[in-house]
Amino acid sequence: MKKFEQFLIDNLPVSKSIHPHYEEALQVMLQAGGKRFRPALLLGIVSSYNSLLEEGAMHAAYAIELLHTYSLIHDDLPAMDDSPLRRGHPTLHVLFDEVTAILVGDALNTYAFEVLSNAPFSDNVRVKLIRELATNGGLNGMVLGQAIDCHFENQPLSIEDVKILHTNKTAKLIAASLKMGAIIVGEEDLGEELYDFGIKLGLLFQIQDDILDVTQTSEEAGKLTGNDEDKNSFVTLIGLEETTKEANTLADELEKELNNFDEKLQNNLSELLTKYINRHRN
Ligand code: IPE
Ligand code: IPE
Ligand code: MG
Ligand code: MG
Ligand code: MG
Repeated sequence: MKKFEQFLIDNLPVSKSIHPHYEEALQVMLQAGGKRFRPALLLGIVSSYNSLLEEGAMHAAYAIELLHTYSLIHDDLPAMDDSPLRRGHPTLHVLFDEVTAILVGDALNTYAFEVLSNAPFSDNVRVKLIRELATNGGLNGMVLGQAIDCHFENQPLSIEDVKILHTNKTAKLIAASLKMGAIIVGEEDLGEELYDFGIKLGLLFQIQDDILDVTQTSEEAGKLTGNDEDKNSFVTLIGLEETTKEANTLADELEKELNNFDEKLQNNLSELLTKYINRHRN
């Protein structure tokens, strides 16, 4: 992922305006790091099937990380989760002000699609990538999930509805990362299989995140933990013990499913996926 970090620095949209901190604010959260899980998934798929396309795939990986970073900046706003810490750094509304955090989120969101529109692929592939990111990151994906998450604070949902919430706010973007990799290498049938796998992986990822909210300190997580009491999560609804069992079941299923993918994919992605599938067990 070193190459990706370099790509990200080289492609930050910075030309100085008259604004005193707009350009700095655009960069802070992107450069603060994070796990880069979604880019790693996309790049892992591309390198499994056609390593010649890796360079071009950086554009798509970057676009996903831009949209994801925007979602985090908005997620932390006072109107949403009201969090002062993200990726080990003060959040933008704390460091600057709320207006800046809102607008930087907006800018990173639209920039993601600009980056995809300029990616070095055929028009056909570009349109498919734009559609995939928009469909999963937008009004019937991440944004819907966030709307449900915030609307139902302090109103307990059923576990089935929490799965819908988690699928939208988190799993769809993770599934799209895998599928976009498959689109780039022209493996569209595999893309559908990977999408289904990614939905399950993303559900587990959010359940693990909910576990970490109660088991990690803010310092360990680099973000405010113990902050989900009002939220609908597996932990708030069924408790830590039952949630851990659910996570274990999902993790075991995913490990089995991973073994059904072909050797090329497994050689490239097993290590990364196994690490994340089991991250609640460490
Ligand atoms: C945080 O995502 C929000 C969730 C969907 C749980 P990540 O845990 O991937 O955050 P970063 O990118 O590493 O900061
Ligand atoms: C956020 O879920 C998911 C997003 C779409 C950003 P959380 O609110 O649980 O994410 P964290 O814990 O703040 O990273
Ligand atoms: Mg949230
Ligand atoms: Mg949050
Ligand atoms: Mg969380």
